[in-house]
Amino acid sequence: MIRVQSPANIAFLKYWGQRDAALTLPCNDSFSMNLSQCYTTVALVPDDDPSVQTLEITEYQKNSPRPATEDERARVVQFHQTVVQFLQISEDNHRGFRITSANSFPQKAGIASSASFFSAMAMAFARLYHADLDEQRLSRLARLSGSGSASRSVPDGFVWWQHGTGDEDSFATSIASPDFWDLRDIVVLVHDGEKKVSSTQGHHAAQTSPFFQQRIDTLLSRAAAMKQAFLDRDFEQFGMMVEQEMVQFHSIMMTQQPPLWYWTEETLRVIKHIHQLREDGLMAYVTLDAGAHLHVICQAADVEQLVQKVSAIAGVRGVIVNQPTIGTRVRDDRA
Ligand code: PMV
Repeated sequence: MIRVQSPANIAFLKYWGQRDAALTLPCNDSFSMNLSQCYTTVALVPDDDPSVQTLEITEYQKNSPRPATEDERARVVQFHQTVVQFLQISEDNHRGFRITSANSFPQKAGIASSASFFSAMAMAFARLYHADLDEQRLSRLARLSGSGSASRSVPDGFVWWQHGTGDEDSFATSIASPDFWDLRDIVVLVHDGEKKVSSTQGHHAAQTSPFFQQRIDTLLSRAAAMKQAFLDRDFEQFGMMVEQEMVQFHSIMMTQQPPLWYWTEETLRVIKHIHQLREDGLMAYVTLDAGAHLHVICQAADVEQLVQKVSAIAGVRGVIVNQPTIGTRVRDDRA
């Protein structure tokens, strides 16, 4: 059996919009942190019969697996096809697989469950064919799953995905190890519903926003400034940029056609609460991806106080405290 564990990641600088959908090539660089408590574990049992292609999923807080839906299974079968092409495995040598996957967090809610799942699958499928890919190739392969952010779950810690000039050089690398900075990401769960529009669909329409081109034009200089604030460990400067980036990213989604509104009443309530806490001197910043749940970014010293305050906000259903962590690993390699 092949067992792989891979983290979700939270993007400080967001990936939104693709310049090549077939190759999942993004319009811009993005930057993220791997999340210690939000991860997917995948167990793959190889089968000599290539027609065996099964997937079971154990959902968040459930004890037993359910069979995957036809759509979920189809994406995995399609990704397997991508992997055999990438590894140049002839059809005679294709293998079958029985997969079970489990998440430590709610899936399809804007906490990058597809990133943790497909980065884990990239490594599991590579192992199925005894391919020991280096990190760059594994990151590229994870990107080709169609969930581009999966490329950022492969390397350790704080990860930069360069948009690159094409397939070969569009991959993610670590710019700092997990212990570089004691940041915390408090995931704030505000509702249970799965999102109705997938980020894959959303990417395709990003360029219909009248503000999209302006975002791309200014992204290079904003990315450099954010990276510098990060390397300086200047929390206020960094946090401010992370929050501005989140607002800009959601403005694109809200103004694209059809518009995507992920914010709920609770989302806005938590954002305003965090702003108030900042005015009162407690430093924390908010970001969120394509979902209603929030990520409150803070420093380790403030985490307990923030968890207490955030948990008391009406509509908050739970929190998951994350620290920076390593990337995709064969499970038994982990300490
Ligand atoms: O990787 P995808 O295709 O699921 O896109 C997700 C993109 C965001 O999560 C919305 C932003 C990001 O950079 O992670």
